Amino acid sequence: MSERIYIHDVVARDGLQIEPQWVPTEQKIELIDRLSATGLAKIECTSFVSPKAVPNMRDAEAVMTGIRRNPDVTYVALVPNARGAERALGARSDQLVLVVSVSETHNRANVRRSVAQSFGGFGEIFDVVRGTGVTVVGALATSFGCPFEGTIPEQQVLDAAARYVDLGVSGITLADTTGMANPRQVEALVGRVRSRWPDLELALHFHNTRGMGLANVLAGLRAGVVRYEGCLGGLGGCPFAPGATGNICTEDLVHMLQCMGYETGVDLDRLLETSRWLQEVVGHELPGQVVKAGKVTDLHASPVAVS
Ligand code: COA
Ligand code: ZN
Repeated sequence: MSERIYIHDVVARDGLQIEPQWVPTEQKIELIDRLSATGLAKIECTSFVSPKAVPNMRDAEAVMTGIRRNPDVTYVALVPNARGAERALGARSDQLVLVVSVSETHNRANVRRSVAQSFGGFGEIFDVVRGTGVTVVGALATSFGCPFEGTIPEQQVLDAAARYVDLGVSGITLADTTGMANPRQVEALVGRVRSRWPDLELALHFHNTRGMGLANVLAGLRAGVVRYEGCLGGLGGCPFAPGATGNICTEDLVHMLQCMGYETGVDLDRLLETSRWLQEVVGHELPGQVVKAGKVTDLHASPVAVS
């Protein structure tokens, strides 16, 4: 069995937005350029949001226009409103990602709007994008639970996905913003989304906040999902959710999939090298595990003589 799985990395946005220190623009560009050479399908580069809301993303234009483009990679930017969409198009983004939280409370904490207001505003984004050839993906934050409201009913997620589909998105990403998903829940919810929209490009975005990240990927694989988002080194977290921590680690994800015989198209050694480099850049240890333990194929010299 060799099924193709598509890996998206979101460290330059989801990872760096929460970092306590400023990562200089040149280093963000170098990070994306390094990632571009690893075989990833998509790279989320930045967000065109209010610089007051997320100061770390205030150099979005410089990052998006400064990177070297690999034609095999889709370069994505997160946008919250029509103004963000105009900025993202001006900086030659290939794809825009919109975010609304399925949870009313988290949506207000994140973008200061009700869920209905968010979807209303997305219409304006489509007006900006129409005819440009740029695609739009809809992300649903807190799809598997909200740190304020707790469990989110499956039907609420399906209703929100339907609103995105009606707007004309080319794909949907179910995001477990604060690591509340468990594998059974993932299989059940993803099963319902896939049976309702079998042709929709569906991606899963997990955080490893409670150690369930890669188990949730396995549940997604069982439900037939072929696109997963991770952060290099396992960096990341939403600045507007208490206790939020890292995304699943891209290189650990690729390592697991390769061990299982899946085809990812990713050069794991290059990814690990970039993760080590990123650790130097951010100046603190990252949660990723394979970078510390080595790959399962990295054997050690035997400490005893075996004849
Ligand atoms: N790019 C740059 N600046 C923007 C902007 C954009 N896309 N959208 C709004 N702004 C600026 C406005 O010009 C205004 O600036 P001012 O205070 O200097 O006049 C300020 O942001 C507030 O704008 P307003 O329209 O009143 O929006 P708001 O205060 O309700 O903020 C968001 C709404 C969504 C723009 C803001 O909360 C945001 O950008 N949030 C980021 C959310 C995020 O990235 N979360 C993590 C990832 S999910
Ligand atoms: Zn996230």
